[in-house]
Amino acid sequence: MLISRELAKAFNKQIGYEFGASMQYVSIAAHFNQHQLTLLAKLFFAQAEEERQHAMKFVQYLLDTKGDLKLPAVPAPTPAFASAEEAVQAALKWEQEVTRQISALMDLAAKENDHLAQSFLQWFIDEQLEEVVKMDRLLSVIRQSGERNLLMVEAYLVHIEKSK
Ligand code: FEO
Repeated sequence: MLISRELAKAFNKQIGYEFGASMQYVSIAAHFNQHQLTLLAKLFFAQAEEERQHAMKFVQYLLDTKGDLKLPAVPAPTPAFASAEEAVQAALKWEQEVTRQISALMDLAAKENDHLAQSFLQWFIDEQLEEVVKMDRLLSVIRQSGERNLLMVEAYLVHIEKSK
């Protein structure tokens, strides 16, 4: 076994959070889909898929290191949102929370001198910066446009896509 029991337990917990995030993003994507904001819906459906992949990375790591895989219950997502701002605010808050969770996992791996786990977790640390910045930027654009001009946010997303 290449992972301690304590770290394996914490990784199992994180798998639940990541699958939970995936469901949360499906719920946010549905909000935009219901309002005919197809690019925002697409962005959040893609984010839901990314979160599923995050969960699967932890699953694979536990299998590779022969840690005890015990899939946890997945927290239910917020089912509906009153506005785009509320939905994206929830996404930003979520990503900030996940950043804290990943940092705590890194602290535990460092405390245990588990270099394999630290190397594995470094990818998530970098990913969290990207995700917090993405949601923060989107929230700012939504606030500037206001709920009545969300089509401008869609235009902004087209512009971002083209400039990649
Ligand atoms: Fe898996 Fe968006 O953090």
